[in-house]
Amino acid sequence: MTILVCGGAGYIGSHIVASLIERHEELVVLDSMVAGREKAVLGGKLYHGDLNDRELLNGIFNDNNIEAVIHLAASSLVGESMTNPLKYYRNNVEGTLRLLEVMREHDVDQIVFSSTAAVYGDPERIPIREDDRKMPRNTYGETKLAVERMLHWAELAHGIKHVILRYFNVAGAHDNGLIGENHDPETHLIPLAIQAALGQRENISIYGDDYPTRDGSCIRDYIHVMDVADAHLLALNHLRCGGKSGVYNLGSGEDFTVKEVIEAVRKVSGKPVPERIAPRRPGDPAVLIASPDLIMAELKWRPKRSNLERMVASAWDWHRAHPQGFV
Ligand code: UFG
Repeated sequence: MTILVCGGAGYIGSHIVASLIERHEELVVLDSMVAGREKAVLGGKLYHGDLNDRELLNGIFNDNNIEAVIHLAASSLVGESMTNPLKYYRNNVEGTLRLLEVMREHDVDQIVFSSTAAVYGDPERIPIREDDRKMPRNTYGETKLAVERMLHWAELAHGIKHVILRYFNVAGAHDNGLIGENHDPETHLIPLAIQAALGQRENISIYGDDYPTRDGSCIRDYIHVMDVADAHLLALNHLRCGGKSGVYNLGSGEDFTVKEVIEAVRKVSGKPVPERIAPRRPGDPAVLIASPDLIMAELKWRPKRSNLERMVASAWDWHRAHPQGFV
């Protein structure tokens, strides 16, 4: 039996693929290669294409004995989602609709879906629990929430079981040194601060230092990408064993300010990281911290590597060894 990983050539997908390979799972990858990198896929057959290509999807399901789908394929730039919202509906909502239709036609009834903390918008309380208010402040989060709802109704009508994982701030790289974070454009704090440490950019901007937090900069919940990969494997096994559908926060519950993260990059790299205070970034909540209690209780997941210095050190090692990313 084979696992289909949609979006398996991207940053998080490639780490999940590496974990599946370590567990000797059969797998195939589908990726549009818009954000994915061929070199990041360490095994399994790679199909190059789009979820909206029904013929390709049918071919993949015809040619492989697909048992379950891990679905990370999405457009995921929050800023772009506000200027080009219809692209996000097409890629994230319509693409998943197509995938579910084809899964149904081929009697595949298990899916692990990547969602986001952005479904909550400005949280009503901290730490955030899964049942808290969902009020996305951007189209990206809105499209992920739309898919969550689609999965709910698809289960009721068609019995497609799902595990939804709402990612908080994913960081770090694989211990094997072969894969890591490589976005273009890069918008995330840790890789940008590392670029500043490597002298590839002049400085790192701190988007706002007047938030009501301990040092005025935003607080986020950072989680190691390999802890994220572990959660997917546990989710898969849960579904395979006949477990019920579920929606889980995937964060470590550990919170750090932007200034603390930049300081960790200085400490780990031993290099200066010049900073500048910039205006707030529109749409940024002041504080996002997960309660990971539910996934810990129901899937027995534990964050094993999500200590800030360890995450920054693994990201630093990868970026230092691959200053131009995957070339
Ligand atoms: N930040 C800076 N300077 C930068 C980049 C980021 O100060 O150059 C700050 C941001 O304002 C934010 C924090 O660093 O407070 C983290 O920003 P990231 O861009 O690294 O991550 P986000 O928290 O914005 O985004 C993450 C996921 C998104 C998801 C979002 C949910 O990457 O996919 O959480 O709110 F939508």
